Amino acid sequence: MISLGEGDTPLVKSNRLGEELGVPELYFKLEGCNPTGSFKDRGMVVAVAKALEEGSKAIMCASTGNTSASAAAYAAYCDLPALVLIPKGEVAMGKLAQAMAYGAQVIMVNGNFDVALDLVREFTARHAVTLVNSVNPNRLEGQKTAAFEVVDDLGDAPDYLFIPVGNAGNITAYWKGFKEYRLMERSSRLPKMMGFQAEGAAPIVRGEPIANPQTIASAIRIGNPASWQSALDARDESGGAIDAVSDDEILDAYRLLASKEGIFCEPASAASFAGLVKALRGGLNLAGEKVVCICTGTGLKDPDLAVSALATKTIEVAPTVQAIEAVAQMPVE
Ligand code: F0G
Repeated sequence: MISLGEGDTPLVKSNRLGEELGVPELYFKLEGCNPTGSFKDRGMVVAVAKALEEGSKAIMCASTGNTSASAAAYAAYCDLPALVLIPKGEVAMGKLAQAMAYGAQVIMVNGNFDVALDLVREFTARHAVTLVNSVNPNRLEGQKTAAFEVVDDLGDAPDYLFIPVGNAGNITAYWKGFKEYRLMERSSRLPKMMGFQAEGAAPIVRGEPIANPQTIASAIRIGNPASWQSALDARDESGGAIDAVSDDEILDAYRLLASKEGIFCEPASAASFAGLVKALRGGLNLAGEKVVCICTGTGLKDPDLAVSALATKTIEVAPTVQAIEAVAQMPVE
């Protein structure tokens, strides 16, 4: 039994955006509240516990950033060495800082995430090192618990679940969780699974791998998802959809969540809400439906993007009350 306090994240009811969009029953699952700031901790704790159980001496992953931060943290907690392969220059500063702080060996690869994951698969096949990407089934066993929590909090499964898709492990894990809970009669129905990739990194939507995926949402900059088929299964079995959202749509959603709901998530996370907005614009009526958007990671992971993308002007003043009164924006008294 190991734990850094992962899971049991808040399911927050929308205070403003749901009403504005005609979705009165809209909820956000705040996975950024996990110990390393993303949903990865749910799966990593199980993967690392199982690695220990098997007598593993080291763990390894490829990552767009969050998996490496999480692996590094649990490795530190359990006194295991962690090797993390990341695409050079493509990982947000907060995530890189985490892997370094937790003491992982960070190996930068001149190549994208897909290349790094192939290398990790090859390396771990040759050496006694446990692979802790989501192709390790223990990861999904941990991640499915988020679906259990959604059902526990709502009293039943939602009608729709909106979720970002990168390597496609998480949509697979949620669907597994919802199905298991349904089988155990903890819920009376199953949600429609609505997955969203970034337009420049949307292999599942396009139906073919993308050699050079591009998007501002670096966490989901993935051209050949490992859990491709199981994401299609989740979509088809649930009667849902997997679609793409543009970087502009992602950034709009990112700004709206922060400024209108007080939810500062990272850009990849905002793909779920961006997908909801797109689906509504396309005519989907969710007025009577319970809808959950998964916010997969905290906005503090990517402070550089926040400052550049939000572009809110800061004001400099002399240190006097008068100077502040001259610029302060507040209700008229
Ligand atoms: N949101 C965030 C914040 C992520 O970090 C990821 C994946 C996803 C969504 C997509 O989840 O891959 O299960 O479909 N990040 C991985 C990483 C790839 O290396 O941290 P997925």
